[in-house]
Amino acid sequence: MPEHRRTLLVTSALPYANGSIHLGHLVEYIQTDIWVRFQKMRGHDCVYVCADDAHGTPIMLRAQHEGITPQALIERVAREHRADFADFLIGFDNYHSTHSEENRELSALIYQRLRDAGHIETATITQAYDPEEQMFLPDRFIKGECPRCGAADQYGDSCEVCGATYAPTELKNPVSAVSGATPVEKQSLHYFFRLADFEDSLRAWTGGGHLQPEVSNKLGEWFKEGLRNWDISRDAPYFGFEIPDAPGKYFYVWLDAPIGYLASFKHYCERSGKDFEAYLKEDSGTELYHFIGKDIIYFHALFWPAMLEGAGLRKPDAIFAHGFLTVNGQKMSKSRGTFIKARTYLDHLHPEYLRYYFAAKLDAGVGDIDLNLEDFTQRVNSDLVGKYVNIASRSANFIVKQFDGRLLGVDEFCADAEALERYVSDVEVHTKIIAEAYEAREFSQAMRKIMEIAAQINQYFDEQEPWKLAKDPAQKDRLHQVCSRILHGFHQLSVLLAPVLPGITRRVARELFGLARDFTWDDLDPQRFPRHLNPFKHLAQRIDSDKVQAMIDASKEDMSASPATPKSTGEAIAATISFADFAKVDLRVARIAKAEAVEGADKLLRLTLDLGGETRNVFAGIKSAYQPADLEGKLTVMVANLAPRKMRFGVSEGMVLAAGPGGEELYILEPHAGAQPGMRIQ
Ligand code: MSP
Ligand code: ZN
Repeated sequence: MPEHRRTLLVTSALPYANGSIHLGHLVEYIQTDIWVRFQKMRGHDCVYVCADDAHGTPIMLRAQHEGITPQALIERVAREHRADFADFLIGFDNYHSTHSEENRELSALIYQRLRDAGHIETATITQAYDPEEQMFLPDRFIKGECPRCGAADQYGDSCEVCGATYAPTELKNPVSAVSGATPVEKQSLHYFFRLADFEDSLRAWTGGGHLQPEVSNKLGEWFKEGLRNWDISRDAPYFGFEIPDAPGKYFYVWLDAPIGYLASFKHYCERSGKDFEAYLKEDSGTELYHFIGKDIIYFHALFWPAMLEGAGLRKPDAIFAHGFLTVNGQKMSKSRGTFIKARTYLDHLHPEYLRYYFAAKLDAGVGDIDLNLEDFTQRVNSDLVGKYVNIASRSANFIVKQFDGRLLGVDEFCADAEALERYVSDVEVHTKIIAEAYEAREFSQAMRKIMEIAAQINQYFDEQEPWKLAKDPAQKDRLHQVCSRILHGFHQLSVLLAPVLPGITRRVARELFGLARDFTWDDLDPQRFPRHLNPFKHLAQRIDSDKVQAMIDASKEDMSASPATPKSTGEAIAATISFADFAKVDLRVARIAKAEAVEGADKLLRLTLDLGGETRNVFAGIKSAYQPADLEGKLTVMVANLAPRKMRFGVSEGMVLAAGPGGEELYILEPHAGAQPGMRIQ
């Protein structure tokens, strides 16, 4: 038990429910998890909660494109996220969803308190509207020609070609990325949170030691620019919570997202008997920390504390922001295979290797961190396997075989009282340094110190040459002392590494030292060194660089695998399906009214298909096999009821059928003469 038992609530940012967890996300979850495990090992009452961030337009549209409900989408993604986190040993005490009853209630409560205190106002604004889908379009769902350089297919907020930033209304020939329709301008009443009402208290709070210095500086700039009203409402159709007193208006996803932290914690309290309300009071004696990435500081360091203040709730003790992950010195990239999903990593490599590598790179700042894959391989092999695991694998056998597993205590393996005193005081000093580094989130310092100790123990092993002592019966006592001391070193290292390597060190605690529990920080007390050792079992193996390459290759495949990818000849026939399954596919004869190349796409042709009255826009990966002009006027077969898919160049509303391995060898299907556009294939 620590002298003062702290009560902490810790969160990581809530990942969006429309995509997979990737290694960039994991920087944050691993960083938070290490810190939380450290607090728990120290005996503090620390609860770690998170949730999926389930609301918003992208999630709604993604579900629509997949032809499923948003609920079905967020449930499926939640299952994937949970499995990814569990396999990376992220020890959430609770993982919830922002689309939950707890969150609905808390969001309503906070909103009502803000409204009643006069911090909400309304105003009519003009926005781009998709007349076909009958929805307002967020900036990133409008595309058109850049007003500055004229580049085609640019998003509504900025040009990827010339870097210009602009309002979506400035785009030339704008189209809705959802339907392809030309957006119109439409007015609507929106709800706003009056952020500027909180300027004084925000200035006091942000200057009050709750933020990293770099973050405080950034906030200084934002204060200078002035705090503007924050638009917190969105019109239907929207996947989110309807605003209690405003039918048809929904809370913008970022309003209920941070409230999701509290909702997940409330859900946890209901099951664990903790007092939720007690944590919400200012001066409650409980501590609240949010780990986030540097891209979402504005939401956490301005909007969130202002909302809490306005609703009469406690504010966080600190926001801990981290930088972004780069891979081999560059932004993660799908084409280079460095956009690596959590699952792809797990298919090839051990999760604790990444935990260790991130720990070795992380500090308390907001600088970006680089995963250099060569350095990763080399670091894991030389530190974790070569220095740490090696200590036990080289020395355990002597204790097990020659001394029946009996270990000597510190007072037995130290030569005399003076040596003992020195040894114990060394342990105390390094334990203190490492604890301080963990507490301050200076994990790289902690890892450096731990590996220094590991190097010293290995050096001691080499100097003492136990393999020689083992051959001389007169040296048996000496051998016992030397190996006990080495294993005590290994025991210490294992406790010190437990926040980073929870799986490996759990096996050390339970299998090697035979404890019926995991390590706690108190195990660093030399008097608590166990006196018995079980036979050493394999703990970790070196990384084979082929595995790293295989992971990169698989990450490249992840993105090239699109449903339209043609299958090669000789491929096994797929599993049988029922007639009912087949009947779900609506295959139609279509006339290729128009075929044209797509600027910026080297594989795609844009086809305008005539279904006998209705036309469809379909992107087909057949550019290398056909000249567009040769296709125009031809009949083909298309899947007419495939859910529309949003692609980089627009929405594809179906799929044409083609045979062959791909590339130049692709043959689109054509019906016999007499077939008419629109006919159903049965
Ligand atoms: N849903 C919001 C957060 C709401 S919190 C109330 C969100 N989700 S996210 O999925 O985009 O990101 C989740 C966290 O992962 C964020 O803190 C984000 O900064 C972090 N990261 C996402 N990509 C990252 C990297 N490439 N590198 C490091 N962290 C990154 O934002
Ligand atoms: Zn431009």
